[in-house]
Amino acid sequence: MRNARLTPLRLARSSSSRMLPRTTVAAMSTSADGSSALSVAAQRLRSPVTWISASATLGALYGLYQFQYTRQLTTQRMAGRPDLGGDFALVDWDGKPVSSKDLVGKWVLLYFGFTKCPDICPDELHKVTAVLKRLENQGQSIQPVFITIDPTRDTKARLKSYFETAGFHPRFIALTGDDAAVKKACRAYRVYFTKPTPEEIKRGDYLLDHSIISYLVDPEGEFADYYGKSLTEDEMFTRVGKLMGDWERQKWWDSVLPAFMATPQMTEGQKRAAEAAKPGNRSAA
Ligand code: NI
Repeated sequence: MRNARLTPLRLARSSSSRMLPRTTVAAMSTSADGSSALSVAAQRLRSPVTWISASATLGALYGLYQFQYTRQLTTQRMAGRPDLGGDFALVDWDGKPVSSKDLVGKWVLLYFGFTKCPDICPDELHKVTAVLKRLENQGQSIQPVFITIDPTRDTKARLKSYFETAGFHPRFIALTGDDAAVKKACRAYRVYFTKPTPEEIKRGDYLLDHSIISYLVDPEGEFADYYGKSLTEDEMFTRVGKLMGDWERQKWWDSVLPAFMATPQMTEGQKRAAEAAKPGNRSAA
């Protein structure tokens, strides 16, 4: 076919057409045929087969775009990953051991607080409850976990009665442990809290100052994002939902891309935490 078209060209322009770039030859050969490329294209577009192949091409282009986008993301390596999260081993209100490893496989929202907190902790836990219920309604399920920073007063019995009556998310699990185990969990997430004095412990009516942050942990047990008190329910809902969606999409790409391309990357939340942890930005969160 191509040779036949090229024949008159060769005759007219001698052997120099061999040297022309392929596209130039093609364009010239079309006009040499005398047929209008535009009208042919117009005719073909009326055919449903052409529309199907055009859609397929667009789909392929979109796939290519996603592929490039993913590759671009994967070049952002783990170098700046924040040093947040880590192992802990505590017990729930039934005395059943619950460690960070037991939670792998689920999205987890960790909240560190204490049940005698008069208003800030309850407000946050109600906000978290509302956010989690909204996410559940769109098919995004998260396991809420409360970790006490006040193991002296937050005994198993206290946690049980508190969570039975407070009206928080019904799937909440609340964890306590000895001082060392609680301290380890708090240190993993850099949770700040004041310690009661011996006199306060004796009186038993102390308050603790502490960081009011919820931590999202992905199903691989990695810290994914954190949410402060200043975020509204709507903002938190949007941010968590988007992060989970992006994460699942990334995992899907990782599963279809060759392994050497599926480099782990930071989530938006990890980037934010890394940024906040830089010297000079310590006031964040
Ligand atoms: Ni509190």
